[in-house]
Amino acid sequence: MRVLVYGAGIQGSLLAHVLATGGNDVTVLARGKRAEELRSNGIVIRHYIQRKTTVDKIKVIHELNKDDVYDVIFITMKYTDFPHVLPALAQNSSENIILVGNNATASEMEAYIEANSEKAKNIAFGFQLSGGIKEENRIIALRFNAGEMVIGGLEKEVNFKDVLEQIFKNTKYKITYEKNIDDWLKSHIILILPMNLAAHIKDNNLKAVARDHGMLRQLVAAMDEGYDVLKDLGYEIIPAQHAHFVKRYKLLNFLFYKLYHCLPIASKVEGSFAELKGLYDVFYKMKAESKVITPNLDSLVHESEAKIR
Ligand SMILES: NC(=O)c1ccc[n+]([C@@H]2O[C@H](COP(=O)([O-])OP(=O)(O)OC[C@H]3O[C@@H](n4cnc5c(N)ncnc54)[C@H](OP(=O)(O)O)[C@@H]3O)[C@@H](O)[C@H]2O)c1
Repeated sequence: MRVLVYGAGIQGSLLAHVLATGGNDVTVLARGKRAEELRSNGIVIRHYIQRKTTVDKIKVIHELNKDDVYDVIFITMKYTDFPHVLPALAQNSSENIILVGNNATASEMEAYIEANSEKAKNIAFGFQLSGGIKEENRIIALRFNAGEMVIGGLEKEVNFKDVLEQIFKNTKYKITYEKNIDDWLKSHIILILPMNLAAHIKDNNLKAVARDHGMLRQLVAAMDEGYDVLKDLGYEIIPAQHAHFVKRYKLLNFLFYKLYHCLPIASKVEGSFAELKGLYDVFYKMKAESKVITPNLDSLVHESEAKIR
């Protein structure tokens, strides 16, 4: 199958590798230095847990033209980068597209694409359950299985499951369909916001986060507050057990996050302040409709913003 991975960073590179290994005709859209690297060296990935390095020579393009038609386009980039590529996606004639990554405004993005497309499109949203960091010329990928993506359509079933089945059939990559992907994505934001804010405050020194017990307590309390806001606004928390666990077992959560921040794998997950800010700005806009207070989350946000100033 002809597949485009639009955005060849950490998540996109791993996805392109999986798709190429599965026998698909894979193209990546990359720009600037990353496009040069990919043309010269291919996609180089060090699979951290599996202790192996793979190199995939793959077609690289730098823009998406209207008539470049693919069976599926996966867009894998930061939340704050999606808006810049929506016009090209809307103009393009491919039918099936999946925006993969954190997303606080999936319905607005879908509405934009639908309003600006000449041809009807099947739009879905996804999240790849892997991590990684970028090193000079290569990606260090953190995955516990062959790779996994949660995918869903907004208020509708994904209607190109057959195409996705074909694309992934020769891989061990797991697809999980989520019927309420918007709430899943919003719940996920609550999980990552406090952790990423804490990391940002400590200059990505995760051991320093682990040593700061006040910050760890604040991180857990901030998650609890965030889930309370979502519930108050009528969103479903997915997975519900996580919100329950955070609310009921503060000490266990504290210990879990203390341990997590000491593990080498924690430093193999990348965050960006720009994306984080994009996500919490939307959260605070939504929160304006709720009476739930979030002192711990607010304090993490203020401390993180103070660093930038
Ligand atoms: N990395 C992780 O550990 C991890 C874990 C879980 C979830 N996620 C989520 O997964 C999503 C993707 O993250 P990522 O880590 O893969 O990000 P990333 O490494 O920054 O990759 C994004 C890629 O998209 C490219 N891009 C951005 N705007 C573009 C444009 N207009 N045209 C062409 N290319 C463009 C970037 O190019 P440039 O390099 O030129 O900017 C970059 O190569 C995010 O929501 C992130 O939070 C990441």
